[in-house]
Amino acid sequence: MPIAGPEDAFRSRFSWAALPGGPPARIIPPMRVIAIVNQKGGVGKTTTTCNLGAALAALGRRILLIDLDAQAHLTFHLGVDNSTLERSMYEVMTGRASVAETLVQRAERLDLVPSHIDLAGAEIELVSQLARERILTDALAPCRDRYDYVLIDCPPSLGLMTLNALVAADDILITLQPHVLALQGISKLIETAGLVHSRLNPRLRIMGVVFCMFDGRTTLSSEVLADVSGYFSRASDGQTLMAGTRVYETRIRRNIKLAEAPGFGQTILEYDATSHGAADYRLLADEFLAHESDKAPKPAAAAAPSADTVAPSPPTPPVESPPSDAPPETEATAAPHEAVPPTESPDAADTSAVADPSAGAVPSLSMDADATAAQDCPAPASAAGEGASHGPMAV
Ligand SMILES: Nc1ncnc2c1ncn2[C@@H]1O[C@H](COP(=O)(O)OP(=O)(O)OP(=O)(O)O)[C@@H](O)[C@H]1O
Ligand SMILES: [Mg+2]
Repeated sequence: MPIAGPEDAFRSRFSWAALPGGPPARIIPPMRVIAIVNQKGGVGKTTTTCNLGAALAALGRRILLIDLDAQAHLTFHLGVDNSTLERSMYEVMTGRASVAETLVQRAERLDLVPSHIDLAGAEIELVSQLARERILTDALAPCRDRYDYVLIDCPPSLGLMTLNALVAADDILITLQPHVLALQGISKLIETAGLVHSRLNPRLRIMGVVFCMFDGRTTLSSEVLADVSGYFSRASDGQTLMAGTRVYETRIRRNIKLAEAPGFGQTILEYDATSHGAADYRLLADEFLAHESDKAPKPAAAAAPSADTVAPSPPTPPVESPPSDAPPETEATAAPHEAVPPTESPDAADTSAVADPSAGAVPSLSMDADATAAQDCPAPASAAGEGASHGPMAV
């Protein structure tokens, strides 16, 4: 006969029913799906998916990363050679393979479903498929007990892949660069998210906004930060989709190590755990988890459709400010891994923090600057540059 220990004695005396109000509500569901979204290119979605995921895994969370972009930048960033793989997100999205059959274990508690350029053809292949916006939701359903968080790296568009991410997601995390045009396109993103929320996925929330490639020494960054914070606090008034949306206090500083790490197929924690980039993503993971524990349980009932689809107009872009006295220091770019060329998003625009003042109130910005010329910022901080943005898909 088993000997009763102190725990058993405790259990026999304790009953949830004895608590006023019964058992506590479950605060955090078993698996949370977070779509990292911005239809602008080069704003830090992939870098954030990779390194926030790695930082959360380092804190003991079980993480699944989904590369939902046919560019396969996340796959490349994590050093996975997709030319040798039999399966990728393309097979998952076209129903030829399950997530479990496709995933690659990248590190302890860090799995990846890799992408492949073939995924670019899936949108056309799926055009006549019924409920094609729910493919990812269904594909993730069997994983619910295996992971704490699924982070989805979305492509720079609001097409079918992003729509699948929004339907599968509990939360949206938006990455932004502190750029004069940072909010351009955000009302379209919020409108699309609102439609998904009201028609397809009432769980969906915009959990927050993270600034990437930030340089706090420029006036421009502070102005954009103030505008974005104001915009989201106005937008969140009374709207379920945006109730609780926060602008994360952790800002990811521009850091050359973050730009170099993909060329070595490593997360920033693997590539240089002592860099500012690693410190910032660790802090972001801490803030993310702290915010998670604040959350109230989410109602399952569908929300009223109309309010969420109306986003306030973004503010007029601020007038460009002159550069600060201290120019950001530039760090030499390290040689990339021999076998793997450094990744460069054609959309990534890693321009200098201040655009041409002669351009007036809405300066024109260089779109093609080399991301690897990123500067390592010693203090929280900005960068300018956006890539192409694409139109939304009808929901
Ligand atoms: N904090 C940072 N400091 C320096 N470079 C960065 C930083 N964050 C990202 N980068 C670099 O900027 C480029 C664009 O970043 P990333 O690929 O994460 O953007 P994205 O939004 O995923 O782009 P796309 O829309 O094309 O998928 C990459 O070359 C990346 O290495
Ligand atoms: Mg990307």
